Amino acid sequence: MSLSDRGWQVFPAEPATIDWARSVSTEVSDALKTTERRHGATWAPGVDLLKNDASGAVAGGVALVGEALVAAQSLIGPLPLHAAQISAVWPGYPKQDPEESDANHHYRRARDAAHIDGLLPEGPNRRRHLREPHAWILGIGLTDTPAAPLVAWKGSAPVFRKAFTSAFEGVPPESWGDVDVTDLYQSTRRKVFETCARVEIPLQTGEGVLLDRHVLHGVAPWAGQDTGPRVTAFFRPELPTTAEWL
Ligand SMILES: [Fe+2]
Repeated sequence: MSLSDRGWQVFPAEPATIDWARSVSTEVSDALKTTERRHGATWAPGVDLLKNDASGAVAGGVALVGEALVAAQSLIGPLPLHAAQISAVWPGYPKQDPEESDANHHYRRARDAAHIDGLLPEGPNRRRHLREPHAWILGIGLTDTPAAPLVAWKGSAPVFRKAFTSAFEGVPPESWGDVDVTDLYQSTRRKVFETCARVEIPLQTGEGVLLDRHVLHGVAPWAGQDTGPRVTAFFRPELPTTAEWL
């Protein structure tokens, strides 16, 4: 099964990716001390948290290289790396925040907070629009913790691609962000839960995972060992033009 059919590809750790993970470890643990946590302080979204350059290197560190990045950069051509998202999960994830609805909390526990990146929920009714047309999502493991792994639904990317193609039919790409895709997104998600296999993808330090931008994915609730956190660096560069998103 190809990346676009299954929805992701895992790459073994290489000496170079392990070196990169080690080279950012001090910056990562410092940044996680002060960054915002949610869900009862058991999760940090960590968007743009790592102060790396376009090669992925932090000051005095090394560039990110390796097969996973090569595979990502071959999909639509080289894109500069942005400040990495440092996604961290602690034992007990997910706890419920006071302002979080029971429905949202239940979805996070029962369905791994499954989502497609870039379709942000907005306003009290959490209506979704295409706001961030990511090219791809590349995750690099920064810890060896198997708890609360990334989860993805096998074969969900083509299902969502088809749904979004119908939603944006006849709409110029510069106006795709105006289309409210909430209902279609939710019905497609239900279909994927019924028809696609849920697969857990734990990452060891230096292991990589390349996700198709249309694959349904989330984070499993914490189970097992009680030492954490589980930390992953994500690069999600945006496409040069929205038209390339489909
Ligand atoms: Fe995501």
